[in-house]
Amino acid sequence: MQAPPWKAKVVEPITLASPTRRREAIAEAGHNTFLLRSEDVFIDLLTDSGTSALSQEQRAAMELGDEAYAGSRSYYRLEAAMKDVYGYRHLIPTHQGRGAEHLLSRALVRPGLLVPSNLYFTTSREHVTLAGGVWVDVAIPEASDPESMHPFKGNIDLELLEQVLKAAAPEQVAFVRQEACLNMAGGQPFSLENVRAVRELTLRFGVPFILDATRIAENALFVKEREPGNADRPLPEIIREIARLADGAVFSSKKDHFVPIGGMLCLNDDELAQRAREFLVVFEGFLHYGGMAGHDMEALAQGIRESADERIVLAYVTQARQLGRMLEQIGAPFVVPIGAHAIFLDAKRFLRHLPQAQFPAQSLAAALYLAGGVRSMERGIVSGQHGDEPYEGLELVRLTLPRRVYTYEHLSHVAETVGAVLAARDAVPGLRMTYEPEHLRFFQARFEPLAPYPPFDGTEAAGSGAFAASWTRPYAGST
Ligand SMILES: Cc1ncc(COP(=O)(O)O)c(C=O)c1O
Repeated sequence: MQAPPWKAKVVEPITLASPTRRREAIAEAGHNTFLLRSEDVFIDLLTDSGTSALSQEQRAAMELGDEAYAGSRSYYRLEAAMKDVYGYRHLIPTHQGRGAEHLLSRALVRPGLLVPSNLYFTTSREHVTLAGGVWVDVAIPEASDPESMHPFKGNIDLELLEQVLKAAAPEQVAFVRQEACLNMAGGQPFSLENVRAVRELTLRFGVPFILDATRIAENALFVKEREPGNADRPLPEIIREIARLADGAVFSSKKDHFVPIGGMLCLNDDELAQRAREFLVVFEGFLHYGGMAGHDMEALAQGIRESADERIVLAYVTQARQLGRMLEQIGAPFVVPIGAHAIFLDAKRFLRHLPQAQFPAQSLAAALYLAGGVRSMERGIVSGQHGDEPYEGLELVRLTLPRRVYTYEHLSHVAETVGAVLAARDAVPGLRMTYEPEHLRFFQARFEPLAPYPPFDGTEAAGSGAFAASWTRPYAGST
């Protein structure tokens, strides 16, 4: 096993709450892991968004933050890092990824215009829909098959895309979107060959091609590992080639760039960038900070450079593979091949007795919390169903790995927890939704179990219930 190229210098205490407290906490949270207090969580695999460990170089760079409202030096350092690594002409800084999606949708989407994309991401689709656009799924069918071993499930179905563009382009297509390491399919990459073909089609039909490049570094690593002809290429070269194939990119920098907050809209077209900047000053902030402070931009500039370091990317992708191997040994069903940033448990196979209308993935996430204080995220019908449309798609629970944060022992605890739920799987109850928000319901929806959860052996008994040794008190007492 290869050791990661970093060691911990600052640590944060975590405690496994008692089984009784966990039962109270998940009930208080309406059986929605988003609504748990982090103090009640032991291993937090809710998301890799904004949860990475900063490097000492990032922290040092933050001291240099120039907080000028306009013309900040930190903005220009960020712009230089973006141009060095990705090569786009224009940088539009935003508070996080959805800020960039909002500006892009304002600038390009009008009522009735189509946005063909490989599957969807929740906030990406929501901004297009709010602007009146129509999301069109053009992912290959393997993307929705958790058992398919296709090495590039992030690919776009080229024939389908061509049909859509033939029927509608260019007037009725806002842009074509392709997401790197497709989150909703299980963190699955696209191939370079596929992006090249999408580039060719979008040029032929005269429509903009925009990447969701949030996880471009991992995608480049998979290209290097799996796509013939790329094994000897340096990672930065592959990243740069992918970026160059598109007219622009949206980034949530809270993932690959190791920052707690930040995002970018990057564009090549001068006129489009100008339009986006007009919305930038209305919704995010001035041109030279968007939604970030100067010190945030410094951490981001350094994070962008670290994100192209192959040793770093390999180390965190390896963690997903380690957890996958542990789960394979205990027979837990999950999406294959193992993706970039997470293991996605397949709740349909895990909880075979529950119909999708009883929210199996949501219930499995609650069970994992009860069994071992592990927080995960539903990525099934609660996240994926749009309005009243029928939904029979993937029903997954995402165990997401914050970058540079947890150790092998933490992963073992997660595997034991999954094992404890697996042992009692037939008794895990379905849920009833008691509160459904109008937008992005997965964040705030509340549920009630249709029967009590069973006791989970092993890890459940291990809770000490005592939070925080005395040395944490002055800084980290509960509110
Ligand atoms: C692929 C992808 N795009 C966009 C976003 C939205 O970014 P943010 O959460 O920074 O607003 C996310 C966040 O999880 C994401 O995974």
